[in-house]
Order: sequence, then structure tokens, then C-alpha cells
Amino acid sequence: MTKPRIGILVSGRGSNMLALLDAMADGTIAAEPAIVLSNDLAAPALEKAAARGIRAEGIDHRAFKRDRAAFDAALLAALQDAGTDIVACAGFMRIMTPVMIAPWAGRMLNIHPSLLPAFTGLNTHARARTAGCAILGCTVHEVIDDLDAGHILGQAATAYQREEDIAALDTRIRRLEHRLYPAVLAAFVADPEALRHNPIAILDYG
Ligand code: GRF
Repeated sequence: MTKPRIGILVSGRGSNMLALLDAMADGTIAAEPAIVLSNDLAAPALEKAAARGIRAEGIDHRAFKRDRAAFDAALLAALQDAGTDIVACAGFMRIMTPVMIAPWAGRMLNIHPSLLPAFTGLNTHARARTAGCAILGCTVHEVIDDLDAGHILGQAATAYQREEDIAALDTRIRRLEHRLYPAVLAAFVADPEALRHNPIAILDYG
């Protein structure tokens, strides 16, 4: 059986991308990387992917002025050219239009650093802390037209430790992301419908 091919979208450091690539390399995820794409040509993630022999390309969104649809068309073309079956957004910091979202309906995942539906958007840990949340975490969900919405496929949660600063929280939750995303993608590749009915839950007792 041929393995599905995963396209990974990044904008920065790429630690979640590496967690997904590791899990494909060791067989935890029964899929193979197709391409890594970044909207930022200087994203460290591109070099990290290339160092592993993965096709890695930058498509500078600024070259498209403010035409998001044209940028999305270029992304879509690159993903299709690489024979992508499933798209995994891993710290991809661009809002996408239906040009990208519609063709991947039911086949595009994203990781978000909060327990959705709470705290969509940016600065999630700081906002959760200010709101007095006792439990924080991260979510992998399907991508739909609404930002940080879409069916939840998995969540990982941890208790806020008193006096913990944002940097420490960020590190701790990112470690959870690296457990959650490969587990969710592995289950998604195996049986997306089963996963939709039975999302993955990871509870970290710190
Ligand atoms: C992660 O916190 C992820 O939840 C968010 O962007 C960040 C990406 O980090 N969407 P990295 O590039 O994977 O290290």
C-alpha cells in the first residue's frame, strides 16, 4: 500500500515540523513527507527540513502584495506538484483563503497553542494566564474557513503552575504539542473518521 504524502506548512522555528518528520521516519506515522513550505524564506524550519533531505521551499507572501488568494494559489500548486495528500500546518502564520482551504477540506490539520474553542488567535498563553485559567494546553483541529475553528481531533492539557512565566509555559506546552501532533496525525492517517468520533486526549500532570 502506498503511504499518504504529507505537506507541512511552516513560518518559523519548525519544532512541530521536526516532531512530525521524526514520527514519519520512525514509522509512528504511516506516511511520508512530500514537501515543507514556508511563507518566510528565512524560516529556520526550511534549513532543518532540507538537512534531512526533505524538499523544502519558500514562497514569499510579500511578493504577492496583499493578494492572499494569489499567494494561496501558489501554495496549492507547490503542494500539488509534490503529490501531497494531507496538509499539516505547523506554526504557519498566514490566514488562508478558500483557494487553499477548499481543496484540502477534511485533509488539512493545524496545531494551536490553546484549549480551543478558548483563546483563538495570538498570545494564547498570556491571555489564558490573565484570564485566571487553571488548565492550559494545545489543540490539533481540522482547518476550515473560520480561524482556529474546525473539528477538534486532539487536545493536550496541563495545570498552570503558580508563578510560572510565559517562557516556561511556552516551553512546557510546546513539549506537549510535540507529543500531541504526531499522535493525532498518526491516527488521522490510519482512520480519520474514527478519530473525528474519538479525539485524542493527553493529560499531563506536570
Ligand atoms: C506552536 O506553538 C504552534 O502551536 C503554533 O505555532 C507554534 C509553532 O512553533 N501554531 P514551532 O515552529 O513548531 O516550533
